[in-house]
Amino acid sequence: MMSRRSGRGLAGVARVPGDKSISHRALMLGALAIGESRISGLLEGEDVLRTAAAMRALGAEIRREGDGAWRVAGRGIGAITEPEEVLDMGNSGTAARLLAGILASHPVFSVITGDASLRRRPMRRVITPLALCGATFSARAGGKMPLAIAGTGQALPIVYRLPVASAQVKSAILLAGLNARGVTVVEEPAATRDHSENMLRHFGASVAVSEDRGGRVIELAGQPELRAADIAVPGDPSSAAFPLVAALLVPGSAISLPGVGLNPLRTGLFATLAEMGAAITIENRRISGGEPVGDLAVAHTALSGIDVAPERAPSMIDEYPILAVAAAFARGTTRLRGLAELRVKESDRLAATAALLTGNGVAVEIEGDDLIVHGTGAPPPGGGRVATGMDHRIAMSALVLGLAAAAPVAVDDARFIDTSFPGFAALMNGLGAAMAPA
Ligand code: S3P
Repeated sequence: MMSRRSGRGLAGVARVPGDKSISHRALMLGALAIGESRISGLLEGEDVLRTAAAMRALGAEIRREGDGAWRVAGRGIGAITEPEEVLDMGNSGTAARLLAGILASHPVFSVITGDASLRRRPMRRVITPLALCGATFSARAGGKMPLAIAGTGQALPIVYRLPVASAQVKSAILLAGLNARGVTVVEEPAATRDHSENMLRHFGASVAVSEDRGGRVIELAGQPELRAADIAVPGDPSSAAFPLVAALLVPGSAISLPGVGLNPLRTGLFATLAEMGAAITIENRRISGGEPVGDLAVAHTALSGIDVAPERAPSMIDEYPILAVAAAFARGTTRLRGLAELRVKESDRLAATAALLTGNGVAVEIEGDDLIVHGTGAPPPGGGRVATGMDHRIAMSALVLGLAAAAPVAVDDARFIDTSFPGFAALMNGLGAAMAPA
């Protein structure tokens, strides 16, 4: 796939697909609740379809009724069945880690695996706490998948302080705690996305959250009776990021993005771009399905380089590649601090983001865990062919760069975009972009 300048601004309405984090959780909690839950706006990307298949393999009835409209009939916590086959979670770290939490506290044997990217990602961060609950794990060297899990029917409620701020690890522990007798406590060093906490409450669990030294303490009462609930999944702010930044960079653009999730633990990119001078307006703020939602409007703006503190990272952890692309168009230097976690995403995203920019004529340095991007205020040369390393966000970031760089930008493999943003190129082209098979 490649992208190039089309000579006109992007215009129109970008309806981005449903939130990936919320979609995984809706299927999982629906499958653990008694009764039939209805989901609207579900992301029908490959990552989420893997979760649907896995929950079916654990005994839930899951039906697709129309575009994004799904029904999930669960049998209650403790009632999952042993999967017959290996559970293949594809490219999705969220699916694998959250599922490990569910499997750990049920008396079933299972093996989970994933594609070459996912098999390189660290699982010890969930194995360590879930083993404290009483489950037994066997993994490849370095805690890599495939991972065999002998779950326990007598899970212990644990008290665990996360060594890294990770919503996936927090959620895995809370999901395991659903079938533990007593109160599971997770302490996070910095607040991370709280979709699990919100949705657990929505399904009837008792979750208490308190602030603690810049982070949070989450307490979940075990063995609640989860009751089926309806969920409206908002548009994914992490997907909205791509058309939004494209509109900022392509001269003459003005687009709107209705129904985007605005959970404050997800909106770090919008705040950061505003600090760089971006004209982003948010209207019609509302609560939908227990999550804040709003309609965004954005127009082309000249950006300025800034210093982004490491404290921003949890609220925009998936947005650094596209933010770095925006920084390449800004006037002045942008320093993105504290990006260690990017090294263990779908690719080594710190290295991949630097390579994406370098290969397109942008001056970039990595200093420790910081990425420094030197913008000149003029469009970068472009002309590169970017290795996406099985990483959807690297692919989309590179294609957005090509829409406004001096020369076209190609990616070696655009297939992984379907994990989170099916229809990405069609949506962008509908706004006036020029993306086409290379
Ligand atoms: C996610 C948490 C984040 C994020 C991922 C989705 C979630 O991962 O990068 O895309 O849904 O909980 P970490 O928990 O590894 O930071």
